[in-house]
Amino acid sequence: MQYKRILLKLSGEALMGERQYGIDPKRLAEYAEDIKKVVELGIEVAIVIGGGNIFRGVAGASNGMDRVQADHMGMLATVINGLALQSALEAAQVHTRLLTALEIKEVAEPYIKRKAIRHLEKGRVVIFGAGTGNPYFTTDSAAVLRAIEVHADVILKGTRVDGIYNEDPEKNTKAIKFDHISFDEVLKQGLKVMDTTAFTLSQENELPIIVFDMNTQGNLLKVVSGENIGTKVNL
Ligand code: GTP
Repeated sequence: MQYKRILLKLSGEALMGERQYGIDPKRLAEYAEDIKKVVELGIEVAIVIGGGNIFRGVAGASNGMDRVQADHMGMLATVINGLALQSALEAAQVHTRLLTALEIKEVAEPYIKRKAIRHLEKGRVVIFGAGTGNPYFTTDSAAVLRAIEVHADVILKGTRVDGIYNEDPEKNTKAIKFDHISFDEVLKQGLKVMDTTAFTLSQENELPIIVFDMNTQGNLLKVVSGENIGTKVNL
């Protein structure tokens, strides 16, 4: 196997499935099945999940709410998604631990780096909730930060698009997809992979990112098996 330890970044919006808001149990169960297959290969899996299906801090702030307050709400939304994902994984007989950057001890373990690594070594899927625990940071930044802290080999960014294109493929059907691209080239061409803070943190720490379509079942397994789907960003 190419990777021993992965960090999977899931978008909150993707959890909505066909819905306009909240969590689609069918989508959640599909994710759990896909993750289980990877765990069964002996790959250690850490997950960061967004909260945009419930609340987006940036959107709250643009509607006049205090940004810090709005980001706190967004962080709590990721804890809700983390609990839902934990539940779905446990229903699929996958051992999990949810660790949160904000202490909510009655609900989940507080994030402690060494604990997280130990859980991963024991084959448990570790879900990181509450982002970085700080306002003004995205869950993409949380994903990169946690990936570096737990020494993940790669970030797998599951999206609804199947990779990185030279233009928005949802707007231009002639957009061209990259199989591989360097960090420098992404910045030079102004392509949107992650927000700048998250992206440069990944670049500085030489942590590769693979963007792929997580909403097609079986894709996660293909990516970890080294199949050339999605787009890989590295040095
Ligand atoms: P090891 O024994 O080190 O392998 O890890 P473990 O997670 O199995 O042991 P621990 O006794 O720490 O945890 C047992 C259960 O309690 C697990 O389901 C943990 O997620 C949970 N747990 C541990 N600490 C906390 C906490 O602070 N809050 C909450 N809500 N649950 C916790």
